[in-house]
Amino acid sequence: MHIVHTIAELRECLSSFRRPAFVPTMGNLHDGHLALVHRARELGDVTVASIFVNRLQFLPHEDFDSYPRTLGVDAQKLAAAGCDLLFAPTERDLYPEPQTFKVLPDPELADLLEGQFRPGFFTGVCTVVMKLFQCVQPRTAVFGEKDYQQLLVIRRMVRQFAMPLEIVAVPTCRDADGLALSSRNGYLSAAERTEAVQLSRILARMGEQAREGGDLAAIEGAAMATLAQRGWKPDYLVLRRRSDLQVPAPGDALVALGAARLGATRLIDNLAV
Ligand code: PAF
Repeated sequence: MHIVHTIAELRECLSSFRRPAFVPTMGNLHDGHLALVHRARELGDVTVASIFVNRLQFLPHEDFDSYPRTLGVDAQKLAAAGCDLLFAPTERDLYPEPQTFKVLPDPELADLLEGQFRPGFFTGVCTVVMKLFQCVQPRTAVFGEKDYQQLLVIRRMVRQFAMPLEIVAVPTCRDADGLALSSRNGYLSAAERTEAVQLSRILARMGEQAREGGDLAAIEGAAMATLAQRGWKPDYLVLRRRSDLQVPAPGDALVALGAARLGATRLIDNLAV
C-alpha cells in the first residue's frame, strides 16, 4: 500500500486509474472501517482510504485535540485489508489556507438530531468530504450506516451537486453483545463498556414497540426516561422516517436513532425498524 500526504502525490498515484473506490475516515480504525474497505475493493479498480481528523467538524468543547491519532497501526490495518492507497494529509496539506468556503448542507436534514446537538457539524463534514472527493475523484465512496444522518446528508449533497459518484452504504458492525463499533468506544471504562450495549437494546425495543403500533411520542419519552434512570444523559431517542429523518406519517418506513452520553463519552447508534 502506498501512503501519500499531499494532494499532488495523490493525483499522481491515481492518474492511471479510472474507477477509484474511496473510504474517507478520521483514523483510529476498527473492524467497521475495514468492512468499508472490503466493500470498496469490490467496487473500483483501486481502493483509496483517507485518514484526516477534520477540525471543521468538531465544536470548540469537543475532543479534536485528544482524538486518537494512530497512523502507523491504521496503515497496517488498511494494508492488511487490501487497501491500495492511503491519503493521510496534514492540516497544512488539506487546508493550506483557512477553509473559508464551506458547504452549507440542507437545514431540513442537517439541523436536526446530530445537527441540533452539534451545530455546524454537518457543514464541517460536507466541506471536508466535498474537498476529499475533489482530491480523490472517486467513482464510488463507501460510508457506514452507523452514522446514518451523515450518510443521508452526503447522499443529498452528491445528488444536489450532480457529483459524478455513487455513495454506497455498509451496515453497522457490532460487537457480540450488539454495541456498534465506534472509535469513541475506546474512551469507555470497563463498567461503561458493559452498560454501553443498552443504547442498541433500547433502540431495538423502540422498534418493536413501533411495529406493535405504539404511540411514537410515548415510546420516545419512555426510552429517554429509561436511559436517564440508568445514569445516561440522552440527547435524543427518536423514531423517524427512514428516507429523510422527518417525523413519520402512518405507513412510512422507520429508523430508530439515538445519541446519549455515558460518563464523558457520547455514543450514537441507529436501527432500521
Ligand atoms: O465519518 C467520519 O469518520 C467523518 O465524518 C468523515 C466522513 C471521514 C469526514 O471527516
